[in-house]
Amino acid sequence: MIDMTKTKNNNLISLADISSNTLKQILDLTEKLKAKPFAKSSFLKNKSIALIFAKPSLRTRVSFEVGINQFGGKPITIKMDEISVGIRENVEDIGNVLSKYVSAIVIRTFEQKQIEELSKFSSVPVVNALSNDEHPCQIISDLFTIKEFFKTLPGLKLAYIGDGNNVANSLILGCALANMDISIASPKNYLPSKHYVEIAKKINPKVKVEFTSNPKLAAKNASVLYTDVWTSMGQEKEFKKRIKIFKPYQINDELLSYANKKAIVLHCLPAHKGQEISAKVFDRFSEAIYQQAENRLHAQKAILMKLIGTHA
Ligand code: CP
Ligand code: NVA
Repeated sequence: MIDMTKTKNNNLISLADISSNTLKQILDLTEKLKAKPFAKSSFLKNKSIALIFAKPSLRTRVSFEVGINQFGGKPITIKMDEISVGIRENVEDIGNVLSKYVSAIVIRTFEQKQIEELSKFSSVPVVNALSNDEHPCQIISDLFTIKEFFKTLPGLKLAYIGDGNNVANSLILGCALANMDISIASPKNYLPSKHYVEIAKKINPKVKVEFTSNPKLAAKNASVLYTDVWTSMGQEKEFKKRIKIFKPYQINDELLSYANKKAIVLHCLPAHKGQEISAKVFDRFSEAIYQQAENRLHAQKAILMKLIGTHA
């Protein structure tokens, strides 16, 4: 049997897959691509990229599709129920076959393990477009947005208020890579797993990672207040329960008064105004939040360039 297991690591499944230096290179490239969106219009000429989605998406899917088009390539979006990874056929066959057609596989699914498995059998880069555990593309783009506002990243404090979910996990790793402190305020049983703190400490032992159930404590001296939905995709049945538990974890004017005077508020979107963020605070920071969403396009392109590189 031919062993198709990949040896080189050119995937982005977790932010732990990249170094601080690689992050810096991706952020620099994002800046260049944002300034000149069509500068690399033949990078993916005659190439295709597979985009597999097992969950809904606006920003991630559209920004990847538009970005691949701007590179002169063809995005092939596949809804998970068309291929049913692990049900219609196994991950091994899907990875091996898709690698014969496309230059990269971007996948949004439930289990992080499924993406890891797929990468083992793919000879092209595999990109995590969100799993239950992580959302690395989102956070790379967010770090770029923060840098646009503050010109630098090291030493800034980010406060994440809300559910200790995939976005929170990736923020922990992203802040470690960027040398930023992070404080996470979540209800007791909804804090992120300590596992991510351990990885963050390995990436950067100097960085502060704080968990608290007190949002005001988290917001203190923060330059960035960040939130995400209280009920993630796949947790819809818990909506009613969660809305009660998370009520004290809204980013609103009062909470904002604990942050730095020049603090910005970010939200990965989709947002539920009146829940995790007040409508007033959303409106005040909507320009920053939409800029954050726009940057997904530029960062996505930089990620693809960095991973595919000369293999395209
Ligand atoms: N922020 C984000 O990933 O949005 P979508 O779920 O719409 O892709
Ligand atoms: N935590 C959210 C992020 C959406 C971009 C979810 O997984 O649904």
